[in-house]
Amino acid sequence: MRVMVVGGGGREHAICWKLAQSPKVTELYCAPGNAGIADVAECIGVGAEDIEGICKAAEKKKIDLAVIGPEVPLAMGIVDELEKLGIKVFGPNKKCSQLEASKSFTKAFLARHNIPTAGYKEFTDKQELLDSVGLYGYPMVLKADGLAAGKGVVIPENEEDAVKAIEEMMGDKVFGSAADKIVVEEFLTGVEASMLCFVDENTIVPMESAQDYKRVFDNDKGPNTGGMGTYSPSLLFTPELEKQIREQILEPTLKGFQEDGLDFKGVLFIGLMLSDDGPKVIEFNNRFGDPETQSVLARLDSDLLDIFLAVTENRLADIEIKWKNERAVCVVLASGGYPGSYEKGKLITGLDDVDDDVIVFHAGTKFAPMPEGSKCADCSDDCDMKKAAVLTSGGRVLGVTALGATHEEARAKAYENLKRINFEGAQYRNDIGIINRH
Ligand code: AMP
Ligand code: GLY
Repeated sequence: MRVMVVGGGGREHAICWKLAQSPKVTELYCAPGNAGIADVAECIGVGAEDIEGICKAAEKKKIDLAVIGPEVPLAMGIVDELEKLGIKVFGPNKKCSQLEASKSFTKAFLARHNIPTAGYKEFTDKQELLDSVGLYGYPMVLKADGLAAGKGVVIPENEEDAVKAIEEMMGDKVFGSAADKIVVEEFLTGVEASMLCFVDENTIVPMESAQDYKRVFDNDKGPNTGGMGTYSPSLLFTPELEKQIREQILEPTLKGFQEDGLDFKGVLFIGLMLSDDGPKVIEFNNRFGDPETQSVLARLDSDLLDIFLAVTENRLADIEIKWKNERAVCVVLASGGYPGSYEKGKLITGLDDVDDDVIVFHAGTKFAPMPEGSKCADCSDDCDMKKAAVLTSGGRVLGVTALGATHEEARAKAYENLKRINFEGAQYRNDIGIINRH
């Protein structure tokens, strides 16, 4: 089977790493991929948001199954376009992708189907919103309706900051048109947890749980990031809580999809607040989480291709998904300055010094370009010399992932190996996997 993964971050490296282990995958491509993905898949120089380019490449490479990693191409309708070419696609179509691309769409869905979530009101007029400042008290939760690279939620603590945030979002348009509509929500308190589920038209199956660390510094200090590390399984999920989530959230969500004609096929990522009144949905994403995927797929025992095919063919109920008992910890090495501005192009050393059983998922890396005129300039990306020189090319650079019989063992192994890798300005959190912080 000829498979193409779309995307080029740590999540896509984890997906490619796992797919490459399937005996049924004969050819594996990734567009655009990165320097780590190149170890397990052939990288195609087409950006994930270049829908036309991806479609052309998929036809040329005679792709049987495409797997979409990031939310932006999903929201642009990449699934619909690839399906028109007769290609099977793992990922929700454009209509279903509104569940991540529009907060207002999701809030209406949750309300319509009585799924627990924060109360809300939406605004399209700046003055009307300013007149309602502090609607649910403070902190005030302001959410840009559309996609804003994970930054569209602002939670001012007082009226002055709220007015400033509203002016920035609706007046200065710091999130572009994404904040033409703003959703204001009740502020929920509790512990946050993520739940990733495989979904087809008939079935919703939660994966093993994972815990993400969103703030950039130790002890949950500093600004929010895409995620600085994860561990799996999360120790927050007791069987009792899982039952509550299944009955109050997962089952009504699937029923809601069916009633609303949302033929969702892919991963539903549910951001949860475990509040005193029970679990509540903070948000839906319609794709694998990053870096949740790195520690979750490291623990998957089944063939990932079988799962993807079952979802695309609505056979998810018929397959058994097996997980390893081992625990996983993934620690992200990020560029200095991230999630603010940072420099790229730093040489990464020590990648070959990690233990064989530790997986270094690449998130923002690329091969060093060969100097012009050098003998190597025209050779392939498989050339050992090129592979030797890997540079940083993003905010989150690597996700060092280790398995262990215990949580502590996985954590110790991940950190011990991470310390063998270096690049100028590298930063990481020291407390990933320390459970009592959550
Ligand atoms: P979202 O992009 O909707 O997941 O929001 C980003 C982050 O904002 C979440 O991970 C929470 O930490 C926080 N957040 C979002 N909505 C709420 C809410 N209603 N109450 C409290 N915190 C929230
Ligand atoms: N780690 C959070 C996300 O993927 O959105």
